[in-house]
Amino acid sequence: MTTWEIVPQGPLRGELRVPGDKSISHRSLILDALAEGPARVRGLLHSDDVHATLGAVRALGVEVVEDDDGLIVRPPEGGLTEPADVVDCGNSGTSIRLLTGACAAWPFLTVLTGDASLRRRPMRRIVQPLRAMGATVDGRKDGELPPLVVRGGGLHMTQHALKVASAQVKSSLFLAGLRSGVMVKEPRQSRDHTERMLAAMGAPIRRTEEDWLVLMPPERLHAVDVDVPGDVSAAAFWLVAACVVPGSEIFLRRVGVNPTRTGVIDALEAMGADIQVYPVEHGGPEPVADLLARHGPLVGTRIDGELALRCLDELPVLAVAAACAQGRTVIADAAELRVKESDRIARVVAGLRAMGVQVEEYPDGMVIEGGGPKGGGCVDASHDHRIAMAFAVAGLVAPEGAVVEGADSVTSSYPQFRHHLEHLLG
Ligand code: S3P
Repeated sequence: MTTWEIVPQGPLRGELRVPGDKSISHRSLILDALAEGPARVRGLLHSDDVHATLGAVRALGVEVVEDDDGLIVRPPEGGLTEPADVVDCGNSGTSIRLLTGACAAWPFLTVLTGDASLRRRPMRRIVQPLRAMGATVDGRKDGELPPLVVRGGGLHMTQHALKVASAQVKSSLFLAGLRSGVMVKEPRQSRDHTERMLAAMGAPIRRTEEDWLVLMPPERLHAVDVDVPGDVSAAAFWLVAACVVPGSEIFLRRVGVNPTRTGVIDALEAMGADIQVYPVEHGGPEPVADLLARHGPLVGTRIDGELALRCLDELPVLAVAAACAQGRTVIADAAELRVKESDRIARVVAGLRAMGVQVEEYPDGMVIEGGGPKGGGCVDASHDHRIAMAFAVAGLVAPEGAVVEGADSVTSSYPQFRHHLEHLLG
């Protein structure tokens, strides 16, 4: 287990290219694995989570070769083939949920599992609708927990009104419905990368006036080359670090700014942060921008409803920003944080309290009194990359720093995080 000891070290300054977007990296591999013909993927995130998806698509018969210009994804003629062994999704919820959906459309057996954290995460949210579509899917506790066993094929068009807004569930159903068609309605709009990529591949996907997303089976799914933009969820750590560490100024190049993902920028701006967004030409279905963030005073705010969903993954580091602000910040409507790689509400509350911050815990969020961390503290970041990186940022402003245990979890999404931190510290 890796432990980081991070202490205040002065301003963070300079320019950085954050790694490729994790959500788009998974989708480019899976969707191009299902398309007709080879496709090139540039800027893929090389991390444990994405490598789990890469290993899985290879196990399903897809040839993926790497060269100096990225990867080439070459699907097998006649479609995916039965994997010879259990598919290990590691720590990656996106891998297991999207791949289970993709495999449900094919007439063979797939068994998917993951690490101890993934085997505790709720799967009935995909298992039930996939069963309703006609797939045979099971898992421990009547389909709630991995390992999951899928025998797919022969699905029929169904409609699903989801109880939780989840891009993983929505995407799982679209992948399952590629040959049968499917209709999905979410209580709130989650990230829409799958819809954008499917549309770019020529799939007939549309939103009705009543907000049903309707996917009809495409005659052909055209392969598309993907240029993966930088991950705004990775950029979030540097945006917050720039805001809270005196004297900082950080320029982040070519970050994905899909509006379903940019809640972190909106929340920081509501706190008074100095962030500039400079749109850049990209050419793909995803908007991209350069971001500039500078240190300045923050004030407390309220993050709930649609905004909370648009920055769900960034709430741990936003909680650190809130602890450094003046006044109170309320985070609500974020109960989903409890079923991520860890119970992120419990871990953030424990970590901030250890640093002398006053925090009230609620089932769906927390209330944080600002004013800055008072001492130093220790946090358990095992199995949870975003907890590790959020508290590394906290350590840069806590008078006695932070001890981050289990920091090797960052390899899920941002293996170069520590290296990039040293770069910005000069
Ligand atoms: C993701 C969707 C979100 C997010 C996760 C990545 C995706 O999860 O938290 O990090 O790529 O679809 P949910 O769909 O469970 O909200």
